[in-house]
Amino acid sequence: MAYEDLEKIAARNVTEAISLDKQGSRGMAITKYQRAVEILLKLCELYPGTPVNRVYAEKVQLLNGRILDLQRGNGPSLPQQGMLIDQTPERTSVLQKLNVNWEDIANLHDAKRAIEESIIYPSRRPDLFPLGWPRGILFYGPPGCGKTLLAAAIATEIDATFHCIDSPSIISKWLGESERNVAKLFDQARAMARSERPVIIFIDELDSVMGVRSHEVGGEVRARNQFLKEMDGISDKNRQSPVYVIGATNKPWVLDEPFIRRFQKRLYVPPPDTKARLEMFRIYSRNVKVADDVDFDELARLTEGRTGSDIRDIFQIVQTKVVREFFEAHEDIDPTAKPRQITMTDFLDAVAGRGKTVSDKGLLMFQEWSEHYLAS
Ligand SMILES: Nc1ncnc2c1ncn2[C@@H]1O[C@H](COP(=O)(O)OP(=O)(O)OP(=O)(O)O)[C@@H](O)[C@H]1O
Ligand SMILES: [Mg+2]
Repeated sequence: MAYEDLEKIAARNVTEAISLDKQGSRGMAITKYQRAVEILLKLCELYPGTPVNRVYAEKVQLLNGRILDLQRGNGPSLPQQGMLIDQTPERTSVLQKLNVNWEDIANLHDAKRAIEESIIYPSRRPDLFPLGWPRGILFYGPPGCGKTLLAAAIATEIDATFHCIDSPSIISKWLGESERNVAKLFDQARAMARSERPVIIFIDELDSVMGVRSHEVGGEVRARNQFLKEMDGISDKNRQSPVYVIGATNKPWVLDEPFIRRFQKRLYVPPPDTKARLEMFRIYSRNVKVADDVDFDELARLTEGRTGSDIRDIFQIVQTKVVREFFEAHEDIDPTAKPRQITMTDFLDAVAGRGKTVSDKGLLMFQEWSEHYLAS
């Protein structure tokens, strides 16, 4: 049986179960819920690695929770909305205005410059770009080094409407409708762009949305083709409506050639070097109290192979430590008391507890990919 048919049967079972549940037919509701769970689990098993599986796994949890409730006789609490399979919350066009500024991002000067040249300047003065400019931008690089952060900063830096899409959302809901979801997204973007402000469609974890996998279902292939078509549509000379597509991935090699070609601008977001790590330590220390003995130069040297995300975690660890000590020492909280400052020893302990996340082998893969695709 086709993927979409199974999905529909699961959806129908849930709808029926909820209606029985509301009428108080406990036994029959349980049977229908169980049937839906079986089908969803079957779908996950038949099509492993499909992005929407995550959505299904959540549903299974909700459904199982409700089944348990009913079995225990906790009848009256109503079934939750989120259980409906055709009502996965619309995650496609969450308009987001995230609050990150350029100054919050360490390093990445090349990326910032490229963004200025391809988005900020052309949006301000399109007349200075008679030859057009790229509308598809790809950020790639190892995890935790600032791809998502850069996208968030773009949203703050230019007055743009930001559509943020994370992995399972395009292919959410009905797989059978996913190409229509893609078309709808671009239609909305174009419509909004007419009202002056540029529109940025940001697709995080592009590889898991649009990467080529060995097991594919019809909906994914159709969504990808629709996406390629839409990308061509935004690159035309229609300067009144700047719609940009920014994609981020830490596995660019999963993307196929037609896809990569449509992201004319490709930006490598590298792991931080010593200087960049120092900058990160400075950025993060703005919000915490640090003792005089803390030597950030030394810490930057010691954190070779760690990413921005690791350094943020290190700060979280040390801050949590002093806060915990504070609460343990002041049980009858004195509202004027403050936690102690963070010392070099705190930092050293936290650094020691965090291994390297960026490996040489991993970096080599990015280097090879860059050599191939930056030149083309
Ligand atoms: N260049 C940077 N400057 C400051 N903080 C950073 C930097 N890079 C990463 N961080 C910190 O690490 C966190 C994770 O970074 P981000 O989400 O941008 O990584 P990513 O490159 O998108 O990773 P992934 O490939 O896993 O999605 C950020 O929220 C930020 O706190
Ligand atoms: Mg990211």
